[in-house]
Amino acid sequence: MHTSKNWISHFKNNAEIQRVNWNLSPTITNREVELILPSLQAWQLAETSEGRDLIAASTKYAAKIGDPLLVDAYKLFIKEEQKHGDELGSYLDKIDKPRVSKSWDDSVFRSVRHLNTSMEAWTLTVLVVESTAQLFYQSLKDATNCQLLRQICTDLLIDEAYHITFQTDRLQVIFEGRSASGKWLRKYLYKLFFYLTATTVWLAHKKIFKAGGNTFKSYTKKMQQKYIKTINRITSPINMQSIELYPKP
Ligand SMILES: [Fe+2]
Ligand SMILES: [Fe+2]
Repeated sequence: MHTSKNWISHFKNNAEIQRVNWNLSPTITNREVELILPSLQAWQLAETSEGRDLIAASTKYAAKIGDPLLVDAYKLFIKEEQKHGDELGSYLDKIDKPRVSKSWDDSVFRSVRHLNTSMEAWTLTVLVVESTAQLFYQSLKDATNCQLLRQICTDLLIDEAYHITFQTDRLQVIFEGRSASGKWLRKYLYKLFFYLTATTVWLAHKKIFKAGGNTFKSYTKKMQQKYIKTINRITSPINMQSIELYPKP
């Protein structure tokens, strides 16, 4: 568990670290481009969101719990996601492929996000999508020998691991505030949502997951491990004595 102040310093420090050597030229093969392009374009778009709805939801929530710094933490978090969009976009530019402005899975998530003013639903959605993002970027990295793309994936993977801790912290606080029956119900709803979303992402991007050496079975198994780790953290009682100063992935 970490305070908003801890998260602000984490995001600020992380923004100073440059892990990608942009002097490298892409060495991706035409065959690889053909395989990964639609997914790369879709994730580039998904990572580019302005996050206005999330800022609105977090502002309302932060006022309710009396933690104004939380809004700044969310703004920095969104900035880091936009950095992902920029990096993937720069890669598309370098391989002379267009950035897209529409993809079906992004439209689905954007419309859900738009309806979404509850911080709990927001956090859960982002958490699940980021869990699939970890497997996506790992598969993308494993599917290519292009050093530039591999470095971009590594950078994104490092950031996303912290993002998951960031969302888990928030969901743990929200979960702790629920009644016993609310907690019972949520354990089922979280699980259902997690697996439905994970399956949707597999269907949308299975070419990449397979190119990275996964089958639907191994993908589901990895998602299951992530789910267990996450749900154990969310449902464990918060111990204010064990606040860690430096967030860990
Ligand atoms: Fe991201
Ligand atoms: Fe993320």
